[in-house]
Amino acid sequence: DKDTIILGIETSCDETAVAVVRNGTEILSNVVASQIESHKRFGGVVPEIASRHHVEQMTVVLEEAVQASNQTWEDIDAIAVTEGPGLVGALLVGVNSAKALAFAKQKPLVGVHHIAGHIYANRLEKEFTFPLLALIVSGGHTELVLMREHGMFEVIGETRDDAAGEAYDKVARMLNLPYPGGPHIDRLAHEGAASIDFPRAWLEEGSYDFSFSGLKSAVINKIHNAKQRAETLKNEDIAASFQASVVEVLTEKTLRAAREYQVKQVIVAGGVAANKGLRKELETKFADTGIPLLVPPIKLCTDNAAMIAAAGTIAFKQGRRSGLDLNANPSLLL
Ligand code: KG4
Ligand code: ZN
Repeated sequence: DKDTIILGIETSCDETAVAVVRNGTEILSNVVASQIESHKRFGGVVPEIASRHHVEQMTVVLEEAVQASNQTWEDIDAIAVTEGPGLVGALLVGVNSAKALAFAKQKPLVGVHHIAGHIYANRLEKEFTFPLLALIVSGGHTELVLMREHGMFEVIGETRDDAAGEAYDKVARMLNLPYPGGPHIDRLAHEGAASIDFPRAWLEEGSYDFSFSGLKSAVINKIHNAKQRAETLKNEDIAASFQASVVEVLTEKTLRAAREYQVKQVIVAGGVAANKGLRKELETKFADTGIPLLVPPIKLCTDNAAMIAAAGTIAFKQGRRSGLDLNANPSLLL
């Protein structure tokens, strides 16, 4: 069989990323220009600034990714691009760059769902075994997705309010930690004790949905009450207790779903998959089940375009094509 070479483009949030991937499994190049420094002083991603940066960075990142891949335009079979979900103005830069390229270079165009990308980041490490369960935990998403075959996604649980990463970032803000707060809370958590009994949102019996807004409120109240009573509350202990609640719920629901659907593989994806506490707890709990757990390296957990090219490869091979009328869809369903 001839190799399939896909160029991926990702601009859904605050990373301008282009990558080239061979056969959906091998990274030939993976260039990511992060804008975190520009958004930091605002305490979160500013959509207008994100779009402008994508416009500035796109051609540079694209040229670098093609050059580093050692492939010519002749070799590239198709252009895959994140069409949603995400910030509409940010998505539009990637989508229009991809359309211009597809038109100029006469290549097929494939729109990719951002979460399918996060899932397929794992296939850059190891081949999938179906049925598989994916836990996606990022700044915008918290989902449990069942896959019985390539390119087919069944959402069996999702957050009803905040995403896990969003909760991390909000709690970090309360503790005056810089954006994005996830890694800072993670670091503090390891220096503290989970001595505060924060709630766990299990929801109805058997539900695989998540909710983090109650936990967030509990943290606010705890900080507020401690201030009023002039109690000293260590940031490390708040971080450790908050993380314990998030990690316990994520791990338990993933375990339960993995058993119920008798999956052959569990994969973790999204920025929060970089969390050391979560990785450790999942590894410990899944070691006893015999179900193989795959957690990608941190570089593939956060937003990148290799994951979009990897997911795009499957879509391309399954014959899915987008027209030059492809539009950004900020609320695209998986
Ligand atoms: O997947 P991602 O790069 O972007 C989205 O698609 O949202 O995820 C970013 C999120 C942020 O909320 C960030 O705080 C969180 O991932 N994050 C972490 C860690 N590293 C990144 N959360 C907890 N612990 C970490 N170590
Ligand atoms: Zn993401």
